[in-house]
Amino acid sequence: MRKRIAVYPGSFDPIHHGHLDLVARCRPIFDEVVVAVLGNDEKQPMFSVAERVTMIEEQVGELGFCRVESFSGLLVDYLDRLGATTIIRGLRAVSDFEYEFQMALMNRHLNPRVETVFMMPRQDYSYLSSRLVKEVFRLGGNIEGLVPPPVIAAMAERLAADRVAGGESAGR
Ligand code: PNS
Repeated sequence: MRKRIAVYPGSFDPIHHGHLDLVARCRPIFDEVVVAVLGNDEKQPMFSVAERVTMIEEQVGELGFCRVESFSGLLVDYLDRLGATTIIRGLRAVSDFEYEFQMALMNRHLNPRVETVFMMPRQDYSYLSSRLVKEVFRLGGNIEGLVPPPVIAAMAERLAADRVAGGESAGR
């Protein structure tokens, strides 16, 4: 039988427990989950794509059914290259729905073989987003329990480096 491969795409800048909860929920449903980090994003990320791939690998590498890659170009073309037809996306709240609905239908338009499957993360993580996690952390808030400890350590390092670089340029 053909392997059921699910692709879980996103920016993952950085990965948090809401993302990891979703990966774990895929286990009984799919043979393999590919966490796919968007490689050609125009946003200013906190971590490079390579850094994000490494950080996610550290979290999911032991699971056995999950691998991490980066991709660029159209998501549906990437799925074709993998021989996958399922996209996993998380739905945290009704507010996610409009954007997700648009993307799912556009992807279906681009490739009718592709289905998007929405999954709800654990309720405790339903307010989590990478953007909020970064904002709270930058302002000194506690993100323990929301983001894996090695990711928090990497964020602390990046923040310290950015502050040194910012301070240096401000001093010139
Ligand atoms: O974590 P994000 O930023 O919500 O993820 C968005 C992502 C990566 C799923 C989306 O931007 C995407 O699929 N980009 C690849 C380019 C593409 O296929 N665009 C058309 C989507 S309808």
